[in-house]
Amino acid sequence: MFSKRTDWKLEENAYTRALRLHRQSGKSVFDLTASNPTTCGFHYDEAAILDALRAPGALRYDPEPKGLPLARDSVIQYYRQKAPAARLDPERLILTTGTSEAYSFLFRLLCEPGDEVVIAHPSYPLFDFLATIQDVKLRPFHLLYDHGWQIDFQELRRAIGPRTRAILLVHPNNPTGHFVGAGEVPQLNALCSEHELALVVDEVFLDYAAREISARKKAHGSFVSNDQALTFVLSGLSKITGLPQMKVGWLAASGPDTLVREAMARLEVIADTYLSLNAPAQYALPALLALRERVQPEIRARLAANLAQLDAQLARQTLVSRLEMEAGWYAVLRVPAVQSDEELAIRLLEEHSVLVHPGHFYDFTGEGFLIVSLLAPAEEFREGIRWLAACVTTQGR
Ligand SMILES: Cc1ncc(COP(=O)(O)O)c(C=O)c1O
Repeated sequence: MFSKRTDWKLEENAYTRALRLHRQSGKSVFDLTASNPTTCGFHYDEAAILDALRAPGALRYDPEPKGLPLARDSVIQYYRQKAPAARLDPERLILTTGTSEAYSFLFRLLCEPGDEVVIAHPSYPLFDFLATIQDVKLRPFHLLYDHGWQIDFQELRRAIGPRTRAILLVHPNNPTGHFVGAGEVPQLNALCSEHELALVVDEVFLDYAAREISARKKAHGSFVSNDQALTFVLSGLSKITGLPQMKVGWLAASGPDTLVREAMARLEVIADTYLSLNAPAQYALPALLALRERVQPEIRARLAANLAQLDAQLARQTLVSRLEMEAGWYAVLRVPAVQSDEELAIRLLEEHSVLVHPGHFYDFTGEGFLIVSLLAPAEEFREGIRWLAACVTTQGR
């Protein structure tokens, strides 16, 4: 009765079973997977958020496929601050219900069923589902780690086949926390021209640079005015103002004029078919975007403090190390591969009430990687890392 594309294996695995049993036991947990900013103890300006949602204009239905002009203008202002010289045009912007919807619009725009999108691994696990639901196949190419992450262009070239329609990058990437290097952009654009591919760049973490990037690397800024290839930048409020529940996302197109015009005309029909982003959220968008000035410093301070705490604890031992990170909300830990990452994650949960993600969750190849979120409240983070280090020290015994 059901489609093959929804034939997911929904049974519990050992990790989800351990998590369910732990929750049922009523024990507390040091949650180092926390990624929901609304439950991490940040101080939101509640009155300002609720006021923003009370705009009288929202009482009228005013369908605008790309989104209300006042809402799109506020997104343009956001990018103007980041890239004052960029050529920005609200007509090249479409508001969506979260970035997930933006992905589905783009996969529909670019791909026939069975077409492929190449994607850097390790990466964010939701992409597999977003692609499968749209009958798109993801073809991975691996990132290289050598004192920092970089694109393996040989592998990327090999991954591109006759059915490839786009290159998908997360910039900075989740969970590796690295930016695309400025030196990598010309090669990406050249590959797109050579194979007639679009570039899809997810920039939800762009505002969260962790520190000065090493002198060896010049990070690229936003791709929002990348003129050399048909480019779609995705972002939204879930990370920019730490408000994932608002479900406000967008896609911004740039590139050669004829391609952008054609893409926007087609995307407008897709958007017009759904008209999904609700009016209160659109009217609220300028005010909610402005709130980033208050929320981001607090989130950044938390990330920096937890990173410093992590480094201080790791300096006291030698078995766990941290990979370089340039941005984002996560840190990747290297641990001895004495047992599988999943077994270690389960042991951490069952014996120490510490919840982490094993590397395979983000498509790391091989064992020896755990991912921790730097968003967790400071005390919970400190205790969680303390138990993690202690557990790894006795690993395999
Ligand atoms: C790379 C990446 N893109 C998109 C999202 C989610 O965005 P949204 O809430 O706008 O759908 C996440 C959430 O963690 C993410 O990691």
